[in-house]
Amino acid sequence: MGRVLLGVSSSIAIYKACELVRELRKAGHEVRVVLSPFSERFISRLTFEALSGHKAYVDWEEDPLLHINLPRWSDLFLIAPCSVNTLSKVALGIGDNLLTTCALSHKGALLVAPAGNVEMYKNPAVQENLRRLREREVTVIEPEEGKLLCEEEGQGRLASVGRLLDWVEYALRPKPLRGKKVLITAGATREFIDSVRFISNLSSGAMGFSLARVFRWYGAQVKVVAGFTTAEEPPEVEVLRVTSAQEMREKVMELKDWADIILMNAAVADYRPSTSFLGKLKKEESLSLELVKNPDILLELGQQKGNKVLIGFALEEEEYLIKRGEEKLIRKNLDALVANPLSVMGEKSYRGVLLLRDGRTFPLQAEDKLKSAEALLLTLTKELLKDLLQVHLKPL
Ligand code: CTP
Repeated sequence: MGRVLLGVSSSIAIYKACELVRELRKAGHEVRVVLSPFSERFISRLTFEALSGHKAYVDWEEDPLLHINLPRWSDLFLIAPCSVNTLSKVALGIGDNLLTTCALSHKGALLVAPAGNVEMYKNPAVQENLRRLREREVTVIEPEEGKLLCEEEGQGRLASVGRLLDWVEYALRPKPLRGKKVLITAGATREFIDSVRFISNLSSGAMGFSLARVFRWYGAQVKVVAGFTTAEEPPEVEVLRVTSAQEMREKVMELKDWADIILMNAAVADYRPSTSFLGKLKKEESLSLELVKNPDILLELGQQKGNKVLIGFALEEEEYLIKRGEEKLIRKNLDALVANPLSVMGEKSYRGVLLLRDGRTFPLQAEDKLKSAEALLLTLTKELLKDLLQVHLKPL
């Protein structure tokens, strides 16, 4: 995986950098840490040495070329937390310590995640420097809004570890899908019986959200229409919430012309109660529910497909996986369909088969949904999108 040079500068949010190092290593990356001199007053370099498994640096010590060698070793340089002082120095090209000098000699992707008091962050001089960085294609990972340690409310909280990790993954991927718009549906729809009870299914939204993350990593602009989910939302992606299959249909139809690629991953309830009772139904000896069929969103999309790339998902019994998958692919007029065996439901690991219109099949297997989503994207890009959308996977 990647070689991440992590710069930490003085902000109380530095404690999050410790967790970040751990999470980066868990994700398979190698990490080296360079600290600004003042930041050691918050956390000693020993902590970062233990967490990263490498020497951490504040100044040149025994290697006078450290400011060249560290960036040369790395695939990307992330400064998190980036104090407004370090941010301004990097923007102006000032190299007055090891960290800022590394930023000067670094040639690859540079990402800064500012953290600080809201008034400091809003300061016109700092805003001007942020603009300078963006103009130079430095990725600015926006701080979050909320209550700050100084008791003030506003923008200034360092991005969450999850968002920082996602940006690292983003920076490490080529961008063959740049300019492509991808619409993904995720999660389960809920069909209400009365105001508090509903029919639904076990979908967590994990696969749909993982697809949203990886399509963004490879450069696509992504929108998600999501029903009920328990998985964590994908960072930096627009998630539009709906409840029922009918609401999902409406939102998808509204967005379909915007999209170049649609992945219909949601577990849409096939039926809904014919009437939904306002309030709470009282208990009786028995209750009969009349169910009516919901619109089949994917079928409707297939009928008006045009040049769009349309990808469906299906849960099928193991022995009929390919046969029924192929039948569904043709019936719904899709470019591809991912057929999953029932055993995948609720499991961490993933297994399935990608079926293409021309009859080719590609087995998919991965230890989690995120890895399987990336494997699916790579196979789709190589075997389908290359011809349909002229996208090519080239290394960074
Ligand atoms: N789908 C949809 N609208 C529905 C039901 C399903 O858009 N009302 C989409 C799903 O998002 C998925 C695909 O259709 O991409 C396959 O769903 P599935 O429920 O397996 O297919 P069905 O057509 O419902 O067939 P069956 O119930 O016979 O398996």
